[in-house]
Amino acid sequence: MYSLIHKIEESSPNLDLIVLGDNQSDWSGLDLSQIELDYLKSELNKDHSSIYINQYSRRLFIEIIPFQSSKSLVCEKVRERGAMVVKPLNLYKIEKVGIVSLSSTDFSLELAEGIILANYQFLKYFNHADSKQNSLKEVLVCSDSFEINQLNAVISGTLYARDLINEPLSYLTALKFSEEITKLGDEAGFKVEILHKNQIEALKMGGLLAVNRGAVEPPTFNILTHKPKNTINQKPIVLVGKGIVYDTGGLSLKPTANSMDMMKCDMGGGASVVGILYALAKANVPIHVVGLIPATENRPGGNAYAPGDVIHMMNNTTVEVLNTDAEGRLVMADALCYAKKYSPELVIDFATLTGAAVRAIGKYGIVAMGNASSSVQDDLVKSGENVYERLAMMPFWDEYSHLLKSDIADMTNLGPAEAGQITAGKFLEHFTDYPWMHFDIAGPAYLSTDDHYRLKGGTGSGVRIMFDYLKRKSI
Ligand code: BES
Ligand code: ZN
Ligand code: ZN
Repeated sequence: MYSLIHKIEESSPNLDLIVLGDNQSDWSGLDLSQIELDYLKSELNKDHSSIYINQYSRRLFIEIIPFQSSKSLVCEKVRERGAMVVKPLNLYKIEKVGIVSLSSTDFSLELAEGIILANYQFLKYFNHADSKQNSLKEVLVCSDSFEINQLNAVISGTLYARDLINEPLSYLTALKFSEEITKLGDEAGFKVEILHKNQIEALKMGGLLAVNRGAVEPPTFNILTHKPKNTINQKPIVLVGKGIVYDTGGLSLKPTANSMDMMKCDMGGGASVVGILYALAKANVPIHVVGLIPATENRPGGNAYAPGDVIHMMNNTTVEVLNTDAEGRLVMADALCYAKKYSPELVIDFATLTGAAVRAIGKYGIVAMGNASSSVQDDLVKSGENVYERLAMMPFWDEYSHLLKSDIADMTNLGPAEAGQITAGKFLEHFTDYPWMHFDIAGPAYLSTDDHYRLKGGTGSGVRIMFDYLKRKSI
């Protein structure tokens, strides 16, 4: 487990501290000398919000919580502060830091969350990784143990999702992805079943098999189950994640200049589903959840599926493939068909599905659409705000599905230039017969520059919002 937040058991005078305060704080408990107190007051008078005091026996990083219009914004600003303070903590080679709250509301856990998410590193491929390793190993807080455990679980899930996304195709083939999922399942306690190519053929998953035809490596279909005792739901919640371990576009090859550089992230939806199951299992959340991840690479091999091909999906729908780069919806559609066998209460899918989603809202949120009840949608939006993985709800009118009409098959896999994120969603909707939401995470899943605690590379987008939603649902 990536767990790094622990409860402060006893106060130790030499522990370096981050102190969270506001303009009402009483600083007398900090044991400051008069000269230090005067310095602090003068800094506060200058409206400085990050104040550093070196007491020699310990270092104090005083952070003043900024006023914001809503609690969720304050939480986010505090997480961002956590990300900012990580730099000096590592610069001073601090290994363990405590958090003390002197503010009217306690935001210690949000601060710790920002610190640990920002302290993440993916160093596996450096020869001299040790010399690059951050010093910070542990954050101590005075919070409730249950809440600390839950936070450690969701942070670990997020960081494992990042690890999986950051792995290149040279390591993470579909088979390797399945092996990694199995390892995480063993560690956290969720069940993993892997369907191999012969079983995928027997199930007639025509979308997954078509995309796999140009691949060097075989596909897998991964079934993750979290079903603890005393679950609150009769019918499971099914989470589906896109597991394209690399997307070249296939024969409709992506232009080589830049557009392929980040395509190892195309299993980001699958990685999020793994991270969510990991967190639920570690935190023992009493809810029955199944994860489904169709995995393959999308390549222009000698036997690759071609534009113009007509394929038969798992539910026998025929699809005219007009662009082999719209492969995500093909593998996701088969998984959505497979989800029917659970008669699920709700299905949510996560996919780095379209460039159109990125163009629409950038990295700032998740493009969402679907037909789940408005109360489910409201709760999801609320969870998105709580953890700041916000949902941008798209219109989902019938007319968009008319844009996928084919001359020779039931539908095509390619809509016109406009509203590409919505026509992709409409394609998926065709394969559902249960309450369902589609989360297009193409924007936030993978970043080219750090964004506070969402670092460059895989972000694990989707894990925190779903954990928050499922945790609340289970209470
Ligand atoms: N994996 C891509 C979408 C993507 C784009 C993910 C940018 C992450 C960042 C997806 O398979 C794709 O290629 N979509 C095409 C669909 C189009 C051909 C209809 C796209 O959006 O350009
Ligand atoms: Zn593609
Ligand atoms: Zn793709």
